[in-house]
Amino acid sequence: MVRMRDIYLLKFGGNALGDDGMERLCREVAALTEEGVSIVMVHGGGPAINAEMERLGMKPVKVAGKRITDEAGLEVVEKVLRGINAEVVRCLEDAGVRAIGMPGYFLSECRRDGPQTVVDEGREIEVDYGLVGEVVKVDPQVVYDLVDERIVPVIYPVGSDGEQHLNVNADSMAAGIAAGIKVKEMIAITDVPGILRDVHDPSSKIDTVTLKQIDALIADGTISGGMIPKVDACRRAIEAGAEAVRMVNGKDPDSIITDVIKGIPHGTLIIR
Ligand SMILES: Nc1ncnc2c1ncn2[C@@H]1O[C@H](COP(=O)(O)OP(=O)(O)O)[C@@H](O)[C@H]1O
Ligand SMILES: [Mg+2]
Repeated sequence: MVRMRDIYLLKFGGNALGDDGMERLCREVAALTEEGVSIVMVHGGGPAINAEMERLGMKPVKVAGKRITDEAGLEVVEKVLRGINAEVVRCLEDAGVRAIGMPGYFLSECRRDGPQTVVDEGREIEVDYGLVGEVVKVDPQVVYDLVDERIVPVIYPVGSDGEQHLNVNADSMAAGIAAGIKVKEMIAITDVPGILRDVHDPSSKIDTVTLKQIDALIADGTISGGMIPKVDACRRAIEAGAEAVRMVNGKDPDSIITDVIKGIPHGTLIIR
């Protein structure tokens, strides 16, 4: 049976949280779940994956914010993400939250990306990402059953097309899950205050942006790199019916997610 619930999906990147950020985020999640808020988490691990690849003499390459991934790269991705996932679950448990870690392929089906044309830095680029995919189908019941028991699913972005595992950008995984479980809100926690008009100027934050404005910001190069899959993810979540999609700063000293969930706006709100 599929029921509608008020589920908040939190996505955070490997760079997003400051030194004590993970503990703080987990404490906020603890307080919110205590109040009955249903939370699902999806995390990435970009910097740790880069570090491990470099340690092994591999060269990390990203185009338009997504990692080009071969078999050896996928092995590193899976190993590093599994480790981070276990740490996140432990941190939640330490904060008193019941949590369960799982890969994306536990509840979704993915399709491998074909060669394609993308826009980065305002320029068109031909790219074949290799063993990279997007979520095409989700089994929402997995999430519903857990959140009904007040258990927080913590998902790491490795998918499968039924034949092989695929690396999925964490924002893309979050968007696919958000669409598949019909979240109320998706909150992308990142290392910038929101979408900036000038990446080097945190005060140039855009408070509210429409999907149409986002297209223009990608075309003129204002939005580039990792911000591209992030805004694509926001678009997918909105088109799937999310009431609100936001981007917030994981290094915010006051409140990472509690304020926005309680209706005090910060970061960037993405609207239709
Ligand atoms: N217009 C923009 N506003 C904010 N950040 C941007 C913009 N364009 C590109 N970026 C980059 O996107 C990065 C966030 O994406 P990413 O590095 O993939 O982090 P995450 O781990 O949160 O996915 C920012 O740190 C910033 O360098
Ligand atoms: Mg990213």
